[in-house]
Amino acid sequence: MPLIEVDAARCKHDGLCVAVCPSACLAAGEDGGPVVADAALCNACGHCVAVCPHDALVHSRVPAAGVRKNLRSWPAPDVVDAMLRGRRSIRAYKDTPVAREVLAELVDVARFAPTASNVQEVGWIVTGNPVKVRELAGLTAAYFAENGTRPTYSAKWEQGLDYFLRGAPALAVSYVPADAPFGPADCGIALTFMELAAVARGLGTCWAGLLTHAARHSAPLRDALGLPQGQVVEGGLMLGYPKVRYPGVPPRNPARLSWI
Ligand SMILES: Cc1cc2nc3c(=O)[nH]c(=O)nc-3n(C[C@H](O)[C@H](O)[C@H](O)COP(=O)(O)O)c2cc1C
Ligand code: SF4
Ligand code: SF4
Repeated sequence: MPLIEVDAARCKHDGLCVAVCPSACLAAGEDGGPVVADAALCNACGHCVAVCPHDALVHSRVPAAGVRKNLRSWPAPDVVDAMLRGRRSIRAYKDTPVAREVLAELVDVARFAPTASNVQEVGWIVTGNPVKVRELAGLTAAYFAENGTRPTYSAKWEQGLDYFLRGAPALAVSYVPADAPFGPADCGIALTFMELAAVARGLGTCWAGLLTHAARHSAPLRDALGLPQGQVVEGGLMLGYPKVRYPGVPPRNPARLSWI
């Protein structure tokens, strides 16, 4: 099967598909339509199919059924900016469970996050079971009790207070192959997509850095997560409905900015 097929009756030879191809896989043919310069360079990003205004291009690695209609305009900048500034790390959650359908929606949005070279290797371990989250918090606490670097949090855990996963009713953990060159970035971006999708649904989140750190060192924690062999946890998000609302946005430092 050829990499691309062009419907000659539809193609307007405008070169858009060639212009957006990130890897020089496509080149302009004599008539301005696309030809494959080197199929091995294709990363299946789907840009050539998605950009074509005339549905003229079929790509063997980009299923047409998976191509969605895009928005024609984005939400207003003030709305987006206010949401980006207004999200907070939530550390007090209602007992209300987070429905599996909602968690599944979050994963479904996060899979649209960009990944380096479009590898799409981010994996997810998700639970909406507060008992499971508590078990994972306990294993995180056990790691830090042994390692001794969070004495206050360890003492709080002994007092029945969870400073590790904050009593969240749900958790999502992202992982990648241990040798993924951009694994931490890919996971971080995917988690950020998930966080914003969660906020849009009225959920609160907090980045689970302590669990992420513990998972690197604690085999019992990795086992409890069911982390597949050869994969490494690169981040996690506590999830739940927030007990508190923040009428204000705390200040941040001025940006460290150099113009060159
Ligand atoms: C960590 C990271 C590094 C990337 N580096 C490059 C780059 O150096 N050059 C480039 O053209 N695209 C780069 N990309 C873009 C990816 O190739 C792109 O996200 C992917 O092909 C999916 O396309 P999309 O972002 O349009 O969804 C990078 C993406 C990520 C997440
Ligand atoms: S974007 Fe579509 S119409 Fe334009 S050259 Fe490519 S296949 Fe032809
Ligand atoms: S899917 Fe992406 S990399 Fe492959 S030919 Fe199309 S634009 Fe180029």
